[in-house]
Amino acid sequence: MAPSPREASPKLSQAMDDCRDRVNKTISSLLPPTDLVEAKLFDAMRYAALGGGKRLRPFMVMEGARVFGVDAGRARRVAAAAEFVHCYSLAHDDLPAMDNSDLRRGKPSLHKQYDDATALLAGDALLTLAFEVLADPETHEDPRVRVELIASLAGAVGMHGMVGGQMLDLIGEKQEFDVGTISRMQRMKTGKLIAFCCEAGAILGKANPAHRQSLRNYAHDLGLAFQVTDDLLDVESNVHELGKPVNQDGKKSTFVSAMGREQARTRAQMLVDQSISHLRVFDEGRVDLLKDLARYVLERRV
Ligand code: IPE
Ligand code: IPE
Ligand code: MG
Ligand code: MG
Ligand code: MG
Repeated sequence: MAPSPREASPKLSQAMDDCRDRVNKTISSLLPPTDLVEAKLFDAMRYAALGGGKRLRPFMVMEGARVFGVDAGRARRVAAAAEFVHCYSLAHDDLPAMDNSDLRRGKPSLHKQYDDATALLAGDALLTLAFEVLADPETHEDPRVRVELIASLAGAVGMHGMVGGQMLDLIGEKQEFDVGTISRMQRMKTGKLIAFCCEAGAILGKANPAHRQSLRNYAHDLGLAFQVTDDLLDVESNVHELGKPVNQDGKKSTFVSAMGREQARTRAQMLVDQSISHLRVFDEGRVDLLKDLARYVLERRV
């Protein structure tokens, strides 16, 4: 079991632990072990999706759902779907053709534990499983809600979202980007999935457009702050604490390479403050943990 984030407040830490345990059960139930000939694929999917990770995106889904009083069982399925997509993205990101990282969540990366082809296939299967879960009536009885979840996740992680951002990330190794382009890249590769996670509760709860927009604004700023702190940790942390290799971004275009550590940190702080301010339209008791989460994103050491 991964340790709770060190800097999180005790209340946030406890809530994240609870969320992680429950979502892990849902993830496990959606990835049943098998003795089929292709069991290796299932094993690799379980390896990628279980046993580590902060489960930040599932937490965002669950807390967003709480704002709108959505049934937790349904929300957990969406949380698992979002985590499947995230785990697929990490498996492919670590491949030799991309970041060539051998360590993930303190363990050998998926392609190191298995092989490149299995890592590709397990990633593909996690991605498609995510959409299968969202399409299932168990996720929501209203087909319009299910289609909206599917369309929203597809938009977040496809060519104009995560995958497009990953393409920019690779191009940025050969070409120097200005801050505006770096910002766009980070919002695409990381921010858009985070935005889906924060908004999913509003979709499930059929929230009014203004409330939904407020959560989107929160996520827009928090998603970028999250990637800025990831880039800072690459130069400030160590492999033992982080569970993944550091100093990996040397040739990449990041906020840290473009503006230096100090300014990048100031930018992240400003984004976190801004993200919290978007939650003022909600009752404090419903968004207190989302606010704590935003602060944690800035202070996190993993
Ligand atoms: C790492 O994400 C990849 C990025 C998008 C920056 P996390 O830091 O959320 O990774 P896990 O899930 O906790 O391992
Ligand atoms: C990955 O960004 C973003 C993804 C969409 C997977 P990074 O390449 O910076 O993530 P880490 O540092 O390997 O976790
Ligand atoms: Mg990368
Ligand atoms: Mg990487
Ligand atoms: Mg990184």
